[in-house]
Amino acid sequence: MVTGGAGFIGSNFVQQAVAAGDAVVNIDLLTYAGNLENLANLDGVPHHELVRADICDGEAIAAVFRQHRPRAIVHFAAESHVDRSIVSPDAFVRTNVHGTFTLLEQARKYWGELSEEDRGVFRFLHVSTDEVYGSLRPEEPAFTEASAYAPNSPYAASKAASDHLVRAYHHTYGLPTLITNCSNNYGPFQFPEKLIPLVILNALEGKSLPVYGDGGNVRDWLFVGDHCGAIRVVLERGCPGATYNIGGNSERANLDVVRAICALVDEIRPDPGIGNRSSLIRFVPDRPGHDRRYAIDASKIARELGWRPTTRFEEGLRQTVAWYLEHARWVEDVRSGAYREWIRLNYEQRAVR
Ligand code: NAD
Ligand code: DAU
Repeated sequence: MVTGGAGFIGSNFVQQAVAAGDAVVNIDLLTYAGNLENLANLDGVPHHELVRADICDGEAIAAVFRQHRPRAIVHFAAESHVDRSIVSPDAFVRTNVHGTFTLLEQARKYWGELSEEDRGVFRFLHVSTDEVYGSLRPEEPAFTEASAYAPNSPYAASKAASDHLVRAYHHTYGLPTLITNCSNNYGPFQFPEKLIPLVILNALEGKSLPVYGDGGNVRDWLFVGDHCGAIRVVLERGCPGATYNIGGNSERANLDVVRAICALVDEIRPDPGIGNRSSLIRFVPDRPGHDRRYAIDASKIARELGWRPTTRFEEGLRQTVAWYLEHARWVEDVRSGAYREWIRLNYEQRAVR
């Protein structure tokens, strides 16, 4: 059972799992971030079924458990965009906290009624984020699984709350849970509200490229296919009750990421009318409470489970830029009226400096 499998990472994960021969029941509410086109090639594939349901709806979740009798849950469904959590936090508390709680409750009931053998095999894998650890100073070591929680945005706080609930369900009830805390993902099918796809599409069209603050904020980028591979490894071999940090070992300042995208778009799709895309960069007012730096120490998952990222950032970014340039129809379809309204809300208030 996958939740949020029509979103960015979830759909990449479902594609990997189905290709590997796994049967997947995919629960997704299809919010603005969920997109059936991410799964279009699975139409008619018998071992993938999409159920449109809200993870806050206990009855609907119980019905899926009864009908499909899953061996494991991989829980991606969430509100995931930090800027939206600053504008309207309510949905984040609802989906990320109450939704995770509802899933845990239904999983606990289902698991409690399994045979002893099936109880031993069952896993509840909760997909979380490095943002729960807060912000690092330049000289500080990367986050480990022992780093203290210090979430700074409503999004990060809601994910931290959900992590604590998952931990408590293992400690109190013995539910065989796993938590993964991952750094920033990029790659195909990411909704263009996030930095990398937003900048690719704006650069392509000659629009301004909004860089928050001074552009010196650092993120640790991981190609989405590598993240999905790591989740599969944790699901197969992770120790129940444990947390695993997942990262790309690719710390980059935002301004460097934006410049790298400009160079790639200039190379792959030169446009004399636009000229050098880096001339489109505009520094705009910062995100309130903007975390300065994230970095993941992924040595535990390497040491204990043998996982390491395989896609170098420069290679993954080239593939990602090429994917967005080749998928104009997908891009057109996701830029609905609701998308345009968000772009207006987020960027019109950020007067260009
Ligand atoms: P996304 O926003 O692209 O997709 C979220 C999916 O969840 C969508 O398909 C949406 O329809 C679905 N959803 C939302 N609310 C729901 C509800 N109430 N019931 C059922 N489905 C619902 O998110 P993403 O970027 O793919 O992130 C997936 C998970 O990974 C999230 O839990 C996020 O916190 C975590 N994560 C993301 C990143 C990243 O860089 N994107 C990094 C680390 C961890
Ligand atoms: O670290 C993991 C997290 O990464 C995930 O948990 C979140 O779900 C995911 O959205 C992502 O959060 P970020 O806030 O880091 O991602 P975003 O793409 O929104 O922003 C990346 C950086 O770029 C961040 O420092 C803010 C900056 N930024 C973002 C946008 C949208 C800009 O400078 N300009 C922009 O227009």
